[in-house]
Amino acid sequence: MMKLNDQSLLHDQAFMDGEWRSAKDGKTFDVTNPATGALLASVANMGSEETAAAIVAADKAMGPWVTKTAKERAAILRKWHNLILANKQDLAVLMSEEQGKPLAESLGEISYGASYIEWYAEEAKRVYGDIIPAPASDKRVLVLKQPVGVVAAITPWNFPNAMITRKVAPALAAGCTVIVKPSEETPLSALALAELGARAGFPAGIFNVITTTDAAIVGGMLTESPVVRKLSFTGSTNVGKMLIRQCADTVKKVSMELGGNAPFIVFDDADIDQAVSGVMSSKYRNSGQTCVCANRILVQDGIYDAFAARLKQAVSGLKVGGYDEDGVTNGPLINGAAMAKVERLVQEATSKGAKILIGGAVHEKGAQYYQPTILTDVRRDMAIFEAEIFGPVAPLYRFATEEEAVEMANDTIYGLAAYFYSSNLGRIWRVSEALDYGMVGVNEGIISNEAAPFGGVKQSGIGREGSKYGLDDYLEIKYICLGGLT
Ligand code: SIN
Repeated sequence: MMKLNDQSLLHDQAFMDGEWRSAKDGKTFDVTNPATGALLASVANMGSEETAAAIVAADKAMGPWVTKTAKERAAILRKWHNLILANKQDLAVLMSEEQGKPLAESLGEISYGASYIEWYAEEAKRVYGDIIPAPASDKRVLVLKQPVGVVAAITPWNFPNAMITRKVAPALAAGCTVIVKPSEETPLSALALAELGARAGFPAGIFNVITTTDAAIVGGMLTESPVVRKLSFTGSTNVGKMLIRQCADTVKKVSMELGGNAPFIVFDDADIDQAVSGVMSSKYRNSGQTCVCANRILVQDGIYDAFAARLKQAVSGLKVGGYDEDGVTNGPLINGAAMAKVERLVQEATSKGAKILIGGAVHEKGAQYYQPTILTDVRRDMAIFEAEIFGPVAPLYRFATEEEAVEMANDTIYGLAAYFYSSNLGRIWRVSEALDYGMVGVNEGIISNEAAPFGGVKQSGIGREGSKYGLDDYLEIKYICLGGLT
């Protein structure tokens, strides 16, 4: 069994209406360590009856929660934040065990996740309305902002903590109550967050976690329910489209943080060392399993060979292994399907003429580990140009002109994050404005933080998370016309 300083952070029951509950039929599912296959816990496998009960609990909790002052809600969020940081080490071990990322990355994610709670504890107190000058002298036009109501949050395995806090913190701050369905790969981090929420004084029903392997049933009920007024989802574009369709009948508000296909452009005038370090953090973070990972590295002719050589040198310094091994930088991929996809993409590219500069195979550490890889001579007619790789593979494409780079970068259905490196101020403005993406990193490979609006355009999503804008997604605008003022 996994060793934590505080063993009571490890739960195998779902959390609903302020209580830990097993499935009515006693069903459970196994959560395993992706690197070793070791069993970590057998977790309650909830179904439709339990989902219906969670919706009732969240609805019942709305009234008391929304009538608390923003300052009271902020104080509870602040306690949650402090407890998370006080238990950082345990939460990181738990995350690394179920997700596989190196401990240093898990520790980073716990702080990153907590930063959203701190941010929205502060923002909770700044939900301002408006008084608008009225077009008639006997009227006043007032605007209030009110919580949307019960929120469902469906969250992924790649950031088992931060993708929950990034949704739940603004929702609770706004006065909404929440039902989270975490990924079946990583439910333990979600349950630990619920334990700390309870310790922070969350009233029963404001934060519910439904663990399940039956995403279709639970997701179906959450999206069909007229009580649930908003769905926030992070995951693939295909599942996001299906959920949007399911939400149409009840005309729910949706926030969608979907797939990406980030271009990372290195112009001839870039600082090569900076660009290499940008690719290292953007591409190989979480073993390439983030939606904002550099997915296509576009390098200008003049520095292509020098850049590839320096990148190879940097990649050869990465250390693949278990999360608790000294100096490990890259962990396993989440499951066999993820490995198969990466292998298929590399194989297809090389069969069409791409060359392996380094890596290109399963790592000797075991079947779940893929070698940090660089492919050169990659072209647009290869499947890897379109696919979200979600693995530690950097494909290098060659371009000649700025126009060509921008055209290649925008040649995708996705529009989440883009990156480019240049020292030319005119180009920095031109290219920033021309890239059809929700987020652009200029001479920077790590762009996510709680103060910034995270989100995409095109088929990468709807809405923004984090920043002052992130709260709006959990608020409705109400207009009050005060008349008869003679
Ligand atoms: C994601 O991959 O969905 C989130 C990445 C981030 O927050 O930086």
